[in-house]
Amino acid sequence: MILIVGGAGYIGSHLVKELVKSEKVIVLDNLTTGSRSLVDSRVDFIEGNLGDENLLNKIFTQYPIKAVMHFAASSLVGESVSNPFKYYKNNVSETLTLLNSMVEHNVKNFIFSSTAATYGIPNMDFIDEEHSSNPINPYGRSKLMVEKILQDFSIAYGLNYVVLRYFNAAGAHESAEIGESHDPETHLIPIVLQHLLGQRDKITVYGNDYDTPDGTCIRDYIHVTDLANAHIKALNALLTELKKTATYNLGNGKGYSVKEIIETCEKITGIKAKVEYGDRRAGDPSRLVASSNKIYKELGWRAEMDLEKIIESAWKWHNR
Ligand code: UFG
Repeated sequence: MILIVGGAGYIGSHLVKELVKSEKVIVLDNLTTGSRSLVDSRVDFIEGNLGDENLLNKIFTQYPIKAVMHFAASSLVGESVSNPFKYYKNNVSETLTLLNSMVEHNVKNFIFSSTAATYGIPNMDFIDEEHSSNPINPYGRSKLMVEKILQDFSIAYGLNYVVLRYFNAAGAHESAEIGESHDPETHLIPIVLQHLLGQRDKITVYGNDYDTPDGTCIRDYIHVTDLANAHIKALNALLTELKKTATYNLGNGKGYSVKEIIETCEKITGIKAKVEYGDRRAGDPSRLVASSNKIYKELGWRAEMDLEKIIESAWKWHNR
């Protein structure tokens, strides 16, 4: 049985939908940002906090859990700058409680959702895992702290782990039953699609004076089902003991500017967007594009869905 912490959130719920095909799954989620309706009906669901020691004791005693995947985190860069306490508490302190409980119950395998934000301002076009880690906001720092804790726990307690550093997760499940929805929404693709559906009167592009070909920020967008499949490969690598510890980037290896995203959304929907240019958003590096060669070489994973497929799937879901 696999415990999915944060399995009612955007990325966690997509993972659960894939993982139930091969494993028994239990989801722990406090539903502050997640939604019960996103959780596949075939899994056991427990509403609660990952920092609740008593609850974790019960779960690890009651269920034969062989691995934990951890998706539950606060993940907005801007909010992390204005409210760092929330980030260090939710992302570091509560994760430490979870890891400690795993050690106490001899649960050895852990998959951690980390982020490209751990790198900071990149000094290479295609960021690989050897790039230095100098995060420029509390969100990135909170994730990097857990990465360090994992290294120490592995040495001291024999915890096995895979760290997955996501670039920009996007898109929706092929069934269009689940997709990306945050409240408030801050992510580019859902904002553009909401505007094209008439739910927002315009799109504001945060800065067009960056050092990029069209002046807007470049990101590497990866389909959420591709992300889910990478987690399953990582899980199998731990369970078969192919890997004891590993850190991988998860991206497409292609960069698209904010302008290119808006244009692709216009093309796919056939609707013209109303765009205004605003100030830069604090904490945004100009370009973040992954090299995902390492996970391809070691686990045979690579992203299958290109930008058009990502936006088509998101559009189908937004239309429901
Ligand atoms: N953007 C706009 N207008 C909007 C929303 C976004 O111009 O209304 C721009 C942003 O400034 C950025 C790009 O679109 O340049 C993508 O922004 P998102 O908010 O969709 O995604 P981020 O790149 O900020 O966030 C992602 C992950 C975070 C991670 C971060 C690392 O979601 O978890 O990359 O920088 F921390």
